[in-house]
Amino acid sequence: SLIMGSTKTIGVIVPDLSNPFFTSFLKGIGQAAEEEQFIPLILGSEDNQKLERNYIEQLVQRSVDGMIIASPLVERDIIDHLLKSNGIPYILIDQNPVAEGDRLYTDDADGARQAVQHLLDLGHQKIALIYSDKPTINVAYRLRGYKEALEKSGIGFDPKLVLTTPMTKEGGYQVAQSLIDSEATAVVTINDEVAIGLYHGLQEKGKSIPEDYSIVGYDDIDLAAYLNPTLTTVAQPVMHLGNLALRRLVARIKDHNLADEKVKLPVKLVIRHSTKQLG
Ligand code: RIB
Repeated sequence: SLIMGSTKTIGVIVPDLSNPFFTSFLKGIGQAAEEEQFIPLILGSEDNQKLERNYIEQLVQRSVDGMIIASPLVERDIIDHLLKSNGIPYILIDQNPVAEGDRLYTDDADGARQAVQHLLDLGHQKIALIYSDKPTINVAYRLRGYKEALEKSGIGFDPKLVLTTPMTKEGGYQVAQSLIDSEATAVVTINDEVAIGLYHGLQEKGKSIPEDYSIVGYDDIDLAAYLNPTLTTVAQPVMHLGNLALRRLVARIKDHNLADEKVKLPVKLVIRHSTKQLG
């Protein structure tokens, strides 16, 4: 049924359109949008807060019915001044740090714990984390889970094993030498993009996966099952996340008075061939 005065459009802002994680997220949104007969307008923020503010202003002027925001740069002040003040419903996801309003989470701390536990079970004790040089709220929980799992195992947390780099293929490629210079025999990367770059960097330096290094990624992007070796990784239910985000937003567009809802979805380790018993 048509909502009075509605344009049946929603705005979606993701941080990085070149990352397949967000492609799947948008697919999930698109499917649900089709069923709900909404059209998503998709924008990538590419690390530029001014651009993002401008996008949102433009979307407000074009009377979008609501917004799905995964970008970390849409901060409190933008939400208050552009969305809340104009009565535009929104839902926050993934990298966005704002605490108020509807939100969908995945269990980032648990994902990292599962990754570390898998490597511990394989006999690894020196487990590195390839972490973001600009950590957003969700990946900060992954660091927390990594720490907790190591502390609980009795091995303890060693800050020297946390290596930071941009969360891109290039970032993973560039960090290869630091990993070689560390004592690690295994590594959890902050996402699959970084793992792909790291594969390339390590192989170029004559290292084999998983013989020299066991690697666990994060996200389970489509490509993960096609790498050589296939990548063990923490799967996020990303299509489902897109689906739920769209449906929740539409529910709120129809009823602005719904109480705020926070929903946390589970993640699951997928074991493939990039990890192996130590020794
Ligand atoms: O690869 C993209 C990463 O950034 C994902 O892990 C997702 O959670 C996002 O924050």
